[in-house]
Amino acid sequence: MRDRFHGRVAAVTGAAGALGRATAIKLSREGARVLLFDRDENGVRETAAQCPGSVTVVGDASSAADVQRAADVARKELGPVELLAAAAGILGPAKPAIELDEATWDHLFAVNVKGPWLAARAFIPQMREAGRGSVVLFSSTAGILGSPFLSAYSASKGAVVLLTRSLALNHAQENIRVNCVCPGTIEGPMTESSFVQAGDDAAQEERRKVMRARHPMNRFGTAEEVANAVLYFMSDEASFTTGTALPIDGGRLA
Ligand SMILES: NC(=O)c1ccc[n+]([C@@H]2O[C@H](COP(=O)([O-])OP(=O)(O)OC[C@H]3O[C@@H](n4cnc5c(N)ncnc54)[C@H](O)[C@@H]3O)[C@@H](O)[C@H]2O)c1
Repeated sequence: MRDRFHGRVAAVTGAAGALGRATAIKLSREGARVLLFDRDENGVRETAAQCPGSVTVVGDASSAADVQRAADVARKELGPVELLAAAAGILGPAKPAIELDEATWDHLFAVNVKGPWLAARAFIPQMREAGRGSVVLFSSTAGILGSPFLSAYSASKGAVVLLTRSLALNHAQENIRVNCVCPGTIEGPMTESSFVQAGDDAAQEERRKVMRARHPMNRFGTAEEVANAVLYFMSDEASFTTGTALPIDGGRLA
């Protein structure tokens, strides 16, 4: 086992989900103490059971008060957070953008765009206090390419790429790096929920086939493959890397 994060404090939002959980477990195995944040109380508890010494906060990633509460708990219980993975996100309905109602659009952007901004705003002051930091946001290949199925999601993830770049410029001289991952289709509940929206069993299988074929490696990724990239960004191995959007997509964007 590597020990790249011994003595470091990390925060993971969306820690009950596939990618947040895989990231939190790897951070914990490599020596970090982790603040786990999610709206899913049972799920976040399951993640905590695999992350010794972690602290959990249940709350809404789109609520400034809840995110600030998570940052305050982390500061008090674990010390200043130096590493942030903002993985909380939702897919929204598989519909063309103009078919969405206003409340759905607002909710999607509140979680997927305002959420990572709130997390950066709450945790970066602790990184300043520590004198170093690494923020990893979660975009998507859908943040680079348009999507006919998930149009609003795609727009929200595109915003995450530019939020990443802007934050990277804001904090480049403070020893705080900001990058994002752009996963392709990754096995897990979010991907399953997108297939379910395709319709009956046959339609779902067809969507699965189409999506698999869009990845030149002809398979979906795993949560661990994404978590490996997140930990790379957080580690000193990425010490000269900031403002980047890294595809982890089996060649989808090649
Ligand atoms: N799974 C994929 O194929 C894929 C591909 C590209 C990008 N991503 C992105 O990676 C991130 C993680 O995805 P995942 O596959 O782990 O999804 P997931 O659905 O397994 O997990 C998302 C987690 O976010 C939490 N969450 C959602 N809304 C929240 C809110 N308002 N407040 C607090 N927590 C909230 C959920 O409870 C869940 O635990 C997301 O931002 C997603 O958009 C995923």
